[in-house]
Amino acid sequence: MQTRTLRDLEVGPVGLGTMGMSAFYTGAGTDDEKSIRTIHRAIDLGVTLFDTAEAYGPYTNEDLLRRALGDRRDDVVIATKFGLITHTPGETEPSTQRGISSAPESVREALEGSLRRLGTDHIDLYYQHRVDPAVPIEDVIGQLAGFVEEGKIRHIGLSEASAATIRKAHAVHPITALQSEYSLWTRDPEGEVLDTLRELGIGLVPYSPLGRGFLTGAITKPSDLDSDDFRRANPRFAEAAFAENMRIVDAVKDIASEAGGTPAQVALAWLLAQGDDVVPIPGTKRVTRLEENVGATDLTLTTDQVARLSALPVPTGDRYPDMSSIGR
Ligand SMILES: NC(=O)c1ccc[n+]([C@@H]2O[C@H](COP(=O)([O-])OP(=O)(O)OC[C@H]3O[C@@H](n4cnc5c(N)ncnc54)[C@H](OP(=O)(O)O)[C@@H]3O)[C@@H](O)[C@H]2O)c1
Repeated sequence: MQTRTLRDLEVGPVGLGTMGMSAFYTGAGTDDEKSIRTIHRAIDLGVTLFDTAEAYGPYTNEDLLRRALGDRRDDVVIATKFGLITHTPGETEPSTQRGISSAPESVREALEGSLRRLGTDHIDLYYQHRVDPAVPIEDVIGQLAGFVEEGKIRHIGLSEASAATIRKAHAVHPITALQSEYSLWTRDPEGEVLDTLRELGIGLVPYSPLGRGFLTGAITKPSDLDSDDFRRANPRFAEAAFAENMRIVDAVKDIASEAGGTPAQVALAWLLAQGDDVVPIPGTKRVTRLEENVGATDLTLTTDQVARLSALPVPTGDRYPDMSSIGR
């Protein structure tokens, strides 16, 4: 596979999000052996960017990634995140106190915990998971720059940050990537944020690039999801919105059959067509779907197909149950 660069970090064009292996979409339970097989297959296929966070599980997803990578850790780029769990200095038990926090003592504790669970002496790309309105972004990035000097992290990233926040952060230390939701049904980064990233030379890592699975057509009704699946509370998956949003899937399916790919591949190929600085991280627990998703790198959409996909209607429903939880 050809590679792409997020500023100065070289990665495969499609990464693997491991969140769903341990959290949010695990209604039927976890299957670590199956997930580890999927991670191994990803490495074999040339996937290098693996995306986790201390908040996934919490903690168990980083632990799973360490066990899966084993002695292949140096073959991959580990991206993890802090800032959605509050830590206290010297805590003996991992904290379960969820909530946005980038207080300096919490961030230090988070870093040491992630390094320990990932079994590594450095994190390749360390993201602030959500902007903390209580801590100036300049202070957060200053602390992370110190971690870079210590050799504990290699690159700094932000998630769901506004253009103004990105600019302030980048003035303190180069930001390598912004990870934000971006897909055929979440176009929020387009405009000011994407323009700012391009002006500053920062890469974009679209999360939930398959619309949390919706855009693939594999979920046909809300009850396909377990009752404690995170998506059951997502307004776009709610009964009232579901049928309307299926119109988007139908249009993606039409273009998929025209282009000779699957809906998932079309959703990813559309993102890849947005620029060489875009590296989506689709999540799956399954080898077959991983292979399908990586296959998107071989699917070239015509200019007309890209334009028709770009013109798809806006979905019904917000992308989170509580949009105010997204710091900026
Ligand atoms: N920064 C943030 O705040 C944030 C938020 C959300 C996610 N993320 C990151 O982004 C990654 C990806 O996002 P995501 O997992 O939310 O959503 P996604 O990649 O859009 O979709 C994942 C869902 O799609 C299914 N799926 C994957 N490939 C498929 C295919 N080819 N055909 C049919 N279904 C398919 C998966 O099911 P199976 O697993 O059963 O295959 C899973 O339910 C996460 O793993 C995480 O690392 C970051």
